[in-house]
Amino acid sequence: MSEHTSPSLLQQIWNGLPKFITTLVGIVLVILLVLAWPLLTRNTPKYSNIDEHFKYASIGGASNMGIPYWIWRVMPVMFPEYLPTDTYKVPGEGVTQIGFMQEPDHDLPIGFAHDTYLGLDVVTNNCAFCHMGSVRESAKAHSHIIPTMPSNVVNLEAYFFFITRIANDPRFNAREMMPYIEKDLKQQGAKLNPLESLLYRYIAIPQTRALLSVQAERLKFLDDQPLYGPGRVDTFTPYKSRAFNFIVEDLPKKETQGSASDFPSIWNQGPRRGMNLHWDGNNASVAERNKSAALALVSPTNIDLDSITRTADWLLDLPAPKYPYIIDTELAAQGEPIFEQNCASCHAFGRQKVGQVTPIEEIGTDSGRLDSYTTEFASNQYTLFAGITYKGEDQRFTHFRKTNGYANHPLDGLWLRAPYLHNGSVPTLRDLLEKPENRPRNFYRGNDVFDQEKLGFVSDVAAAEGRSFFKYDTSEPGNGNGGHLYGTDLKPAEKTALVEYLKSL
Ligand code: HEC
Ligand code: HEC
Repeated sequence: MSEHTSPSLLQQIWNGLPKFITTLVGIVLVILLVLAWPLLTRNTPKYSNIDEHFKYASIGGASNMGIPYWIWRVMPVMFPEYLPTDTYKVPGEGVTQIGFMQEPDHDLPIGFAHDTYLGLDVVTNNCAFCHMGSVRESAKAHSHIIPTMPSNVVNLEAYFFFITRIANDPRFNAREMMPYIEKDLKQQGAKLNPLESLLYRYIAIPQTRALLSVQAERLKFLDDQPLYGPGRVDTFTPYKSRAFNFIVEDLPKKETQGSASDFPSIWNQGPRRGMNLHWDGNNASVAERNKSAALALVSPTNIDLDSITRTADWLLDLPAPKYPYIIDTELAAQGEPIFEQNCASCHAFGRQKVGQVTPIEEIGTDSGRLDSYTTEFASNQYTLFAGITYKGEDQRFTHFRKTNGYANHPLDGLWLRAPYLHNGSVPTLRDLLEKPENRPRNFYRGNDVFDQEKLGFVSDVAAAEGRSFFKYDTSEPGNGNGGHLYGTDLKPAEKTALVEYLKSL
């Protein structure tokens, strides 16, 4: 009788193993692929409307500055104490309290963009972060948001303080942050898939903290500078420390203490081609001015040149917004020859000196911003974009130069560009026509209610409608309101006529 020879259990497993493993591996791969699919195929949103593109599209920077969306959302909920609202405050939630503007049909404020990094939805910033403002006819009226005007209500420095102080808080860890994220997801009716959850827990949260800690280290000099207040930023000191590892404490004080400047308007770039602009006239190339500003947020290796080029092309012919309130045309007509005689040579398109630099000894305005730009820094800038070409063109910076004064800018859309001068030290045009000793020594920034008489934003109100404004002190380093004496000797009636004319620019 032959024994029934069924294979032993061990043998069965052995025989079946390769198939079992391949099946198992196959199943695991399918599950992983299903989980990873949304991450692998996640697209950065594109906007067909150019206005929306400007306000919400990414300009790159996801790999060095992107904050994963759900972390970004809970930051102000988890760490509200780091949103500095003691010197300036707008009613609202999260970062709208420091002036960022939220439109109803968007989940991010203007200037914030969805991008993608490692398959995750991350938040980056774009040109509208700094070049977007608002204006109201009266305290009771609604604010009109105006893209490309100088940012007047956003306290950018408060945002820098916020993100860098968070980085040093021990509660910034997955154990404490995940419950906030889960609660927010639930409220939003959203879900992270298991793989995304793991990525958040083990990569995104610790990585974001590390990234913000690096920024905190590079930006620690902010604590030693006078506060910028809304509508201003230091153009070059962050650049020096973040892009080129300059040790800011080792730089001469006059280079770093008074360097905050006002945001400029960026419309109508076409006629500005070839002009020496930036406040000190350090660059004659529109393309380089566009890219240089973006470097606050992106690096030469992750800049999205398609996105920026689309904005840049639009800016070329974008007209300055027209003055929407009443102009006394008769009075303005009296102002025109006064402008021609006293101002046009430096400020009107097509005139000889527009886009040139007036030496500091002549213009006599605060020298802080001028001193912050140095030859040593310029030579470092020349290394930027080396070896990077776009549409056949070498992107390397070649136009930066050290100047000895401030640029004569065209004055288009002047009504929206208050407070005036490179440091925003003179609240209204009427005040600019006074001798420095009669210009306001202290005034308030951040109000978007328009002052139709003096031309500028209301600047003598400390608080209104739940908002409290930033007190600007002209005696702080970099804040001086002296110089630019043109027109200060005119008779009061001539000044009134000139201001009326300036409304039409
Ligand atoms: C972090 C804030 C910030 C961001 C983001 C930013 N800018 Fe600017 N931009 C500035 C500041 C500040 C200046 C003034 C620089 C100076 O002269 O000190 C400026 C100057 C400019 C100028 C020159 C204006 C003139 O007439 O002198 C242009 C053009 C410009 N930016 C375009 C852009 C574009 C396009 C983007 C997006 C790709 C952008 N900026 C992003 C802050 C920013
Ligand atoms: C010799 C050239 C010159 C003349 C003439 C001149 N300006 Fe200026 N203007 C400048 C320079 C340079 C600046 C930049 C100074 C600074 O920001 O520190 C400036 C800045 C300004 C600004 C600030 C612009 C802004 O965006 O903040 C206004 C407004 C202005 N000038 C108006 C006038 C008026 C009005 C007159 C005539 C009464 C006049 N200027 C005459 C050279 C001139």
